Amino acid sequence: MSLTLPSAPLYDALALRYEEHFAAPHRLAYDTLAWDLCIGWLPEPPANVVDVGCGIGRWAKRLTGLGYSVLGIEPAPLMARRARERMANDKEFRLLESRVEEVDLPAGTNDAVVAIGSLQYTDEPADAVARMAGWLRPGGVLAVLVDSLAALILELVKDGRIEEANERARERRGVWTEGGFSADLHLMDTAQLAELCGDAGLEVVGCHGLLVGTSLLGRTRVVERLEADFAGQLEEERSAALQPDLADLGKQLFVVARMPAR
Ligand SMILES: C[S@@+](CC[C@H](N)C(=O)[O-])C[C@H]1O[C@@H](n2cnc3c(N)ncnc32)[C@H](O)[C@@H]1O
Repeated sequence: MSLTLPSAPLYDALALRYEEHFAAPHRLAYDTLAWDLCIGWLPEPPANVVDVGCGIGRWAKRLTGLGYSVLGIEPAPLMARRARERMANDKEFRLLESRVEEVDLPAGTNDAVVAIGSLQYTDEPADAVARMAGWLRPGGVLAVLVDSLAALILELVKDGRIEEANERARERRGVWTEGGFSADLHLMDTAQLAELCGDAGLEVVGCHGLLVGTSLLGRTRVVERLEADFAGQLEEERSAALQPDLADLGKQLFVVARMPAR
């Protein structure tokens, strides 16, 4: 079943306060974990990275700061405008204002592609993974972060919303409502991500669940813990994120796959 509620209006409504949005403890925590894991997998700079769904350029800015050249792809007009403004003086950043589905890049030329929170909004994730994989050189890496199907279902069951949990499990779709806008999204698990990567000719090298604690304690309790001791809770989550068999319990899934060297 395809998506029906486009995400661009929701992200545009968030664009002006996107840094603030990511300062919330749980988002800051999963983003920190994903960044630290990702940096370990990227080839050494200088190297070129495609940032799919780059938003306002949060990751792009950090990547160019480390010496990477970044091509951002972003379809939400206000997010794209903010990325342009924030990176106006950065010669290592270029932006295509487009959905990933509509971008054609030369095959086999990029060192890395990162898709942090964007794959789940694409029409057909299998096609998007295949497209992104096609842009990688042999040995290049694809890193994707998506919301976890299992973690959402557990959260709904914990809240007593059993019918909704069942519907989400059956349809593998979620709806995110924020600031009066709603966007629907694909909900995935690690087996599906591994299958999409395998079908695209990639080999999964990293499989991580971010904020596994939310599946055990609930999000409110994890946020309380992060507020009380951010560094301590983050370290616990970092250990859990290193256990691939726990990955589906993470609120977010972070998967890294490599194009085999020829
Ligand atoms: C969760 S946000 C993450 C933004 C950015 N990666 C970050 O971490 O700050 C997801 C982003 O994906 C973008 N997006 C949605 N659908 C997309 C598509 N089909 N192709 C590329 N990007 C898309 C949204 O506009 C939004 O900016």
